[in-house]
Amino acid sequence: MDRYCVFGNPIGHSKSPLIHRLFAEQTGQVLSYDARLAPLDDFSANAREFFAQGLGGNVTVPFKEEAYRLAAELTERARRAGAVNTLKKLADGRLLGDNTDGAGLTRDLTVNHGVTLHGARILVLGAGGAVRGILEPFLAQQPACVVIANRTASKAGQLAEEFKDLGPVRGGGFDLRDEPFDLIVNGTSASLAGELPPIDPALIRPGHTVCYDMMYGKDTTAFNRWAAEHGAARCIDGLGMLVEQAAEAFLLWRGVRPDSTPVLEALRQQLRG
Ligand code: ATR
Repeated sequence: MDRYCVFGNPIGHSKSPLIHRLFAEQTGQVLSYDARLAPLDDFSANAREFFAQGLGGNVTVPFKEEAYRLAAELTERARRAGAVNTLKKLADGRLLGDNTDGAGLTRDLTVNHGVTLHGARILVLGAGGAVRGILEPFLAQQPACVVIANRTASKAGQLAEEFKDLGPVRGGGFDLRDEPFDLIVNGTSASLAGELPPIDPALIRPGHTVCYDMMYGKDTTAFNRWAAEHGAARCIDGLGMLVEQAAEAFLLWRGVRPDSTPVLEALRQQLRG
């Protein structure tokens, strides 16, 4: 049996085994996909042990940077992200590291929700690992601009500096005064603490701006509630990104792109309990 897994710590609540089981059923691929609790201080040895037989793995918190260092080869988007969420064993046994998070978000926005990124004014909130992973795929869509706003303004500035060769990107603090944006993406972990990035609601153009929270949950996220209150045309959560990043990984491993729609439906129902 072709073996795949997701490495994480903790890993118990991962939805990846369900997603990939549904993808495999749907595409008629025969494979196994397990959740694997890697020790916090020994991800590399754990991954090497798995890849003695295994063909591919997803990597989640807190191992994405370690997986980046483990990979013998990197895709350009993984190199830019500085993090790897997908490993694939190559024919010669070496590991290829990819990062499908940003492609997953971009596909959820453009394909599932019909949002045009080309020429769009985009505001991204946060400057951590999650945001680093989406900048290359976003800039590849040739938006009018990407503005990164972060609690620690200097981190947003540094991130913009690192990506400015790819397109018009600038960074600063949450106190930004600007024209309203077409798209606002929340990539901070503020909602984990039930908090909101304190940005000016005038950055939303009522009835026009699309808001996207990379987080998701049973209930509408704090950011999406705030966005709806200020008239956002649409408020989308990150469940679609989760399924699409998995679909990108499945495509890399198996050469087949699964249909994400029924899988997203199943996950949404499970989330609602
Ligand atoms: P991740 O991998 O999820 O991006 P991270 O790299 O630790 O995690 O980054 C967390 C991001 O959320 C950062 O942009 C952080 O802001 P700082 O750079 O100023 O720390 C942001 N963040 C976390 N808690 C926040 C809060 N309560 N309000 C606003 N931003 C917050």
